[in-house]
Amino acid sequence: MKLIETTKVRNIKLSNRIIRSALWMNMADKDGRITPQLYQVYEELSKGGVGMIITGYSMVDPNDRPNPGMMGIYDDSFIDEHKKLVDIVHSNGTPISIQLAYGGSQTNHPDFQDAVLFGPSAVKNRTTGITPKEMCKEDIQHLVTMFTNAATRAQKAGYDAIELHGAHGYLLSQFLTPFCNRRTDEYGGSIENRSRIFVDVIKSVRKAVGEDFTIMVKMNHDDYMDEGEGLRVSHAIEIAKTLEYAGADLLEISGVNETSGKGFSPARTKINKPELQSYFLEPTKQIAEAVDIPIILMGGNRNFNHLQDILDETKIKYFSMARPLLCEPSLVNKWKDNANYKPLCVSCNGCYREGEVGCVIQEKRRNNKND
Ligand SMILES: Cc1cc2nc3c(=O)[nH]c(=O)nc-3n(C[C@H](O)[C@H](O)[C@H](O)COP(=O)(O)O)c2cc1C
Repeated sequence: MKLIETTKVRNIKLSNRIIRSALWMNMADKDGRITPQLYQVYEELSKGGVGMIITGYSMVDPNDRPNPGMMGIYDDSFIDEHKKLVDIVHSNGTPISIQLAYGGSQTNHPDFQDAVLFGPSAVKNRTTGITPKEMCKEDIQHLVTMFTNAATRAQKAGYDAIELHGAHGYLLSQFLTPFCNRRTDEYGGSIENRSRIFVDVIKSVRKAVGEDFTIMVKMNHDDYMDEGEGLRVSHAIEIAKTLEYAGADLLEISGVNETSGKGFSPARTKINKPELQSYFLEPTKQIAEAVDIPIILMGGNRNFNHLQDILDETKIKYFSMARPLLCEPSLVNKWKDNANYKPLCVSCNGCYREGEVGCVIQEKRRNNKND
């Protein structure tokens, strides 16, 4: 197997095994409408050689907005603008998946702090301080419907896939996390019960979109919370098997539940030594061993030859990157020309800042050129 070779996942043909991981740009307008800047971002990425793009997270419910500047897909009026985005990306031969998210108590949006936000249980988020409303069965059904309707719109817009955001402490992942999920009904308690909402969403989406559409899930291998509070890799392995059985096609493995108040991030900084790269490799390897569907290794992937070695030595089939592709949208093309090319991204997280997301390294280089 080679990093640069054509592979197929259900309906998608990928020209290589490198995927752009979801990256919120804070560039949509206040209603989640796609702006000219966003079209430009995705156009540039689609010319840069990646095997597939996953969009930044998009809202499925107008009443839940984890962050300002997120794209929306919460009603049918969004289909046309997403079709325009998809057409631009496809015209450059790149498949695209839209990430769908519900934030709940992860809401960082100043205008939505007082909104009624769903959660598996009414447990205070130790990062945002928000206590969500414990969802009743009707709320769970409503959420499943919102994800399903968003997926149907995505399919109508021409997307090749959806990715459910089931990681980092957003609502779906809160169901998996014992600290956040104190339920005693069929959606709480055992791992099987805590995974049930994912199974409900996947089955409902599959029924709506048919067989010719890819369903991806981003999930944590570990919540990086105290013992007994969070997921561990042994649980994640069981969850991955459940998602495979439910009909997921592709799993992207992340880590960290941001509700913990510990300040940990799935985007680690200071990846300045080779041994700090690909930082979720060991647990992701274990998950890849346990399932037959392809697994995406995410986090700190920075070296082409190292990724080829991982491909040769493990069952991991795909690799995703976020920050290096913000810094250099054409990184994969550069690697195609020269496998030893060293990406410019220094994982400083300067991209997380007030206003639009952007890369400080790229901006410095641009300013120096203009001096
Ligand atoms: C500015 C920024 C925005 C992000 N937005 C999202 C997002 O919308 N959805 C998501 O699942 N992860 C998001 N992430 C996390 C990335 O997808 C990725 O998991 C993380 O940056 C680690 O990968 P990397 O080392 O290749 O950057 C974001 C990260 C950054 C830095």
